[in-house]
Amino acid sequence: MAILVTGGAGYIGSHTCVELLNAGYEIIVVDNLSNSSEKALERVREITGKKLTFYKADLLDKEALDNIFKKEKIDSVIHFAGLKAVGESVSMPLKYYHNNITGTITLCEVMQKHGVKDIVYSSSATVYGNPETVPIREDFPLAATNPYGRTKLVIENLLKDLHVSDNCWNIVILRYFNPIGAHESGKIGEDPKNIPNNLMPYITQVAVGKLEYLGVFGNDYDTPDGTGVRDYIHVTDLALGHLKALEKLKEKPGVSIYNLGTGKGFSVLEMVKNFEKVSGRTIKYRILPRRPGDIAICFADPSKAKKELGWEATRDINKMCEDAWRWQKNNPNGYND
Ligand code: NAD
Ligand code: UD1
Repeated sequence: MAILVTGGAGYIGSHTCVELLNAGYEIIVVDNLSNSSEKALERVREITGKKLTFYKADLLDKEALDNIFKKEKIDSVIHFAGLKAVGESVSMPLKYYHNNITGTITLCEVMQKHGVKDIVYSSSATVYGNPETVPIREDFPLAATNPYGRTKLVIENLLKDLHVSDNCWNIVILRYFNPIGAHESGKIGEDPKNIPNNLMPYITQVAVGKLEYLGVFGNDYDTPDGTGVRDYIHVTDLALGHLKALEKLKEKPGVSIYNLGTGKGFSVLEMVKNFEKVSGRTIKYRILPRRPGDIAICFADPSKAKKELGWEATRDINKMCEDAWRWQKNNPNGYND
């Protein structure tokens, strides 16, 4: 029996494939490669020395999905596939709603038809909007502030409704904080197609000389040094959380929701300093105005995942920076090298 990994060629998906294969799972990847490269999967095979099956297919293509479910013996699904750029979601909401929500509906319809009712879903801390207090617990109010975040919320609710309609559905919703870093081999990592939106890939591209300086979005927040604070989590720790979630599915949990974060916050300038220390490179930066939609502080209370999944992040900020740097240094042009 295999695990179907949607979006498995992407950043978090490829790292999760490595951990699944290392743990002995058989995996089937479905990805339309709209934001990824098949090379990531070749590297996954290289790192693990194991086989995986890949279908280049779109979740919106019901017939293609149906054929995959007919052909393969699928036990559970880890559902990463989706579009994730917040800014783009504001200018192209229909694209985001259609791809993320309709894609998930199509997937669930095909799963239902084939009697596969165990799913782990990639949600995000973005569903908490601007929290009143930190650390953020899973029972905090939900309030997404952009179309991307709203697709995450709609899908969370859709999955909960599915369980209400048929309690054979077992669903684990994982709310990721800020995934960074790369596999320690330096063979797979984050490979943004254009200028990075997120902090760590921006820093690594400055370090490698592809970008001139980092723009720090605001230094007047109510934080110790005035710059935004986030809960950065090593992508391998995040990937390992999915293995624990799969185990949880076997306990028939109904619907469970977990924060995956470290519980620690780092500011933008602390991230710059840590990165400089591990890489030996100087990161030039300039203070710019705040980025619209940004919040001051966001970090998780990850205690529910520790208690119920037996999962906890173990890789520290230096390891996150070290691994992100190794990936960027070895692959200055990502998978295009
Ligand atoms: P990613 O873009 O690297 O991976 C997503 C993958 O899904 C890509 O390979 C893309 O080609 C594929 N895809 C998109 N639409 C598809 C479709 N219709 N059919 C088939 N494949 C499709 O992103 P990621 O960072 O690995 O994120 C994975 C998931 O985690 C996403 O759902 C994202 O919203 C969520 N998430 C990511 C972050 C983050 O910071 N990276 C934070 C919170 C949540
Ligand atoms: C962003 C998304 C969020 C998504 C998350 C993970 C926005 C508004 N939010 O969150 O929905 O779940 O990524 O993919 O885009 N920063 C700079 N300069 C930069 C880039 C970032 O100073 O060039 C700062 C930001 O202001 C923030 C911190 O670095 O304080 C982290 O930013 P980023 O990596 O984009 O993540 P989030 O804003 O937390």
